[in-house]
Amino acid sequence: PAPPGIPHYLTHADLSAKEIYNLLTLAIQHKYNVKHLNKSSGAPLAGKTLAIMFSKRSTRTRVATESAVAYLGGQPMFLGSQDIQLGVNESLLDTSKVVSSMVDGIMARVGAHSDIETLAKYSTVPVINALSDKYHPTQILADLMTLHEIYVSSSSSYVAHQTHPSKTLPGLRVAWVGDGNNILHSMLATFPKLGVHLSVATPKGYEPNEEIVRYAQTEAGKTNTELNFSYYPKEAVKDADIIVTDTWISMGQEEEKAQRIKDFAGYRVTSQMAEEGGAKSDWKFLHCLPRKQEEVSDEVFYSPRSFVFQEAENRKWTILAVIDALMVKKSFD
Ligand code: CP
Ligand code: NVA
Repeated sequence: PAPPGIPHYLTHADLSAKEIYNLLTLAIQHKYNVKHLNKSSGAPLAGKTLAIMFSKRSTRTRVATESAVAYLGGQPMFLGSQDIQLGVNESLLDTSKVVSSMVDGIMARVGAHSDIETLAKYSTVPVINALSDKYHPTQILADLMTLHEIYVSSSSSYVAHQTHPSKTLPGLRVAWVGDGNNILHSMLATFPKLGVHLSVATPKGYEPNEEIVRYAQTEAGKTNTELNFSYYPKEAVKDADIIVTDTWISMGQEEEKAQRIKDFAGYRVTSQMAEEGGAKSDWKFLHCLPRKQEEVSDEVFYSPRSFVFQEAENRKWTILAVIDALMVKKSFD
């Protein structure tokens, strides 16, 4: 394995609340610098390369990452599944040693979470998780940044940067209605640590990973955060400030589509469901995208309650913060 001491970003379970807040404040600062001050970065990554190795499709994560690296003056090197031997025809150990000997950072989108762990174990440069079957941590940073902006009541980068997210996020009530998937797992690994309440409804058989639930319960106990699990969407959305969902069919589950659509009957996020379940009257909606019709109605998705496009843009600022922390500052402090 590579020598210890290289910071990686695989899951928020590895980070403290303070380190997560540091990433958020860095993201808020970058957005403010670019959008309000029109400031250049000073190109701290000039001459440096980030290898972006994706074994699955991506719109947001790829565009966010390539444009973030360009802003920092570095070179993004995109390597798709047809370009690189990512766990195919060569061991991940060998790929990690070879690629990390030539670049300054690796970002990878993989199937099994153990793949990203293997890459990190043998890499001599920082590794960033761009989505695995277990976690999608950069997505949750963007969600938190968006919630911060919503609750400072402004999408203005100027207003958002004047308030610390530790003033806006704790105490918010998030309801998850959907699959017990990588996005929910990342929320479970993050929200209880920050004091963000989480109420979850999944169909039977689609519950989140038990080990991650136990981790979240332990963290929630330390911070006095509420964490609830049920099989009833209307129970989960009670008193919710924010309702979140994701596709019912994650990448790699395409063959289960017909069964999943049956099993998720009644889980579609609609205004009627939110109202009947007793969500707060001004509840907001988030979704990591890409979105399918079945999990949320157009009437919610394209309404003023929905912050999905701001959330998508914030992928850029939060990924920029992660790259800045790992490749420029070389620390989450
Ligand atoms: N939300 C997200 O990760 O989108 P992409 O798959 O398009 O990157
Ligand atoms: N749960 C989805 C998230 C996509 C960004 C998937 O893994 O495909």
